[in-house]
Amino acid sequence: MEWTKGMLQELVGLKLSDLPLVVVSNREPYVHTYIGDEVHCQVPVSGLTMAVDPVMRACGGTWVAHGSGSADIDVCDDGGRVMVPPQDPRYTLRRVWLSREEQEGYYLGFSNEGMWPLCHMVFNRPTFDTSHWNMYKKVNQRFAEVVLEEVGDSSAFVFIQDYHFALLPRLLKAQNPRIITAQFWHIPWPNPEVFGVCPWQEEVLEGLLGNDLLGFHIRSHCDNFMGTVDKALECRIDYENSAISRNNKMTLVRPFPISVDFDQISQEAESEELQQEIERIRRYWGLTDEIVGLGIDRVDYTKGIPERLRGLDRFLTKHARYRGRLVFFQIGEPSRIRIRRYRDLNYEVEDLIEEINWKFGNRDWRPIIRLREHNSPFTLAAFRRLAHFCIVSSLHDGMNLVAKEFVASRADREGVLILSRFTGASRELTDALLVNPYSTDEMADAIKRAIDMPRNERVRRMTRMREVVADNGIYRWAGDIISTLTGIEPEEV
Ligand code: G6P
Repeated sequence: MEWTKGMLQELVGLKLSDLPLVVVSNREPYVHTYIGDEVHCQVPVSGLTMAVDPVMRACGGTWVAHGSGSADIDVCDDGGRVMVPPQDPRYTLRRVWLSREEQEGYYLGFSNEGMWPLCHMVFNRPTFDTSHWNMYKKVNQRFAEVVLEEVGDSSAFVFIQDYHFALLPRLLKAQNPRIITAQFWHIPWPNPEVFGVCPWQEEVLEGLLGNDLLGFHIRSHCDNFMGTVDKALECRIDYENSAISRNNKMTLVRPFPISVDFDQISQEAESEELQQEIERIRRYWGLTDEIVGLGIDRVDYTKGIPERLRGLDRFLTKHARYRGRLVFFQIGEPSRIRIRRYRDLNYEVEDLIEEINWKFGNRDWRPIIRLREHNSPFTLAAFRRLAHFCIVSSLHDGMNLVAKEFVASRADREGVLILSRFTGASRELTDALLVNPYSTDEMADAIKRAIDMPRNERVRRMTRMREVVADNGIYRWAGDIISTLTGIEPEEV
C-alpha cells in the first residue's frame, strides 16, 4: 500500500490531534542569508531537513533549530519565530541563537569531531574533548528550555533529530513527563566496542533512553545500539520486542528506513519547467551527445568522493575510447569547513580532479566538472534527470537520500544508479549496480557496465527501484513512527 500525504494528515488528525508537534534538529530547514543587501532564503544541503520538511508541511507544528543564516534574526519576530516555507507558510520555525563558542564546542566539536566519525567508522579517528562535551551538555539544556517554552506543562509530541541531541529527551522528560519523545538517529550506530571509546558513553546512552521511541534506518543499527546498552548499562533488554527498560522506563528501538517525497519529485521531473532547466544546463555546458555522469554530495569524508574519482580515473585509463565522450559532474558544496579534516578533503578532491582533467583532458573537453556553489533543489533535480548514471559511493552511510532522489527523478525510467554496498539504501535498492567503493577496479567496471547497459535492462531495473521508493516514501516513514508511538500514552501527572 502506498502511503500518501493525505493518509499521514488523517493519521495525525486521528492520533495526535490534542498533541502539539515539535520537531527539534540542529540544522534548520530554511536559511535566510544576506546576498548584498537582499535577503535570500536557501534550502540547506541536509538529508535530514529535506526529508522532514514535507512531513512538517503536511502536519504543521513547530520546528526548533539553530538559526545559522546571516539574515535569520532579521526575518524573525522577537521570539525567534518565522513561518515557513516562505512562499507557502505551513509551520513555525523557532530559531535558537548560539554563540560562536557554543557552536564550536557543541556542533563542530562533540557532534562532528566526536559522534560523527565515531558512528561512521571510516578510519577517521574521533576526538573527544571535555570542553566540547561541556558545551554539548549546555546546548542540549538550552534546546530543552526552548522546547519547554513552546510546550509549557501540556502534553506534546517532540520529535528529536539526530546525534546533536542525545541528552535532550531525558532533559525534557525530567521537566515535563507528559511529553512523548521519539528520536531518529540519522547516522549509523557502530558496534559496542567502537562506541565504547566515547568517554561519556553512559551519559549519551542514558540520555537516549529518555525517549519513548528511538529509530534507526536499519535493523543492524538497532541491534548495535541494543548491544552497546547491554554492555554499558544496567538494564533489561527484550530482544524479541526490541525494547529496553531502565529505571522503570521503556524505550522501543525500531528501524524506520527514511525516504523522500516520491510523488512530488517524480511529478516535478515531468514538468515543462524542469525540461527548460535541463535545456538551460545543456546549453550552458555545451552538452551535445556526451555521456553524462553525476555525483551529488556534501563534501564529507564519509561520501567516498576521492574513491569515486579514482574509479573514474581507472575507467578512463582502461577504456580510452570513452575519452572525450564522458562528462562527469561532481556537484556539492563544501561542508563543516571549520574542521581541518573537511578542509583537507576539499583540497584532496580539487587535486584529484585537476590531475584527472590534466591527464585525459584536451582543449575542448575535460572529463570532470566540479560545481561547488549552492544549487537550488530544482537545478539538482534537472541534473538528476539528465544524467545517464549517478554514483553514490559512500564508505558508510545511514541511508543516503541522493540515491532515492535519483530514482524518484527518473520518471522516464532511464538512468543507472551505481550504489555503495555500505549505504542503508543498498538494502532496498537492490537493482542498482552495487559496488564496494574501496575497490577502484570494481568502481571502474561498474561505470563501464552502467554506460554499456542495454536500454531494456536499464528500464527494468529503474522501474523496480521506483516501485520500491514509491511504496516506501517519506509519508510512510513518518506514519510508521507515529503509529508505533500511538501505543504510548503520555504519563499522567
Ligand atoms: C547529515 C546529518 C544531518 C545534517 C546533514 C548536513 O545528514 O545526519 O543531521 O544536517 O548531514 O550536515 P550539517 O552539519 O551541515 O547540518
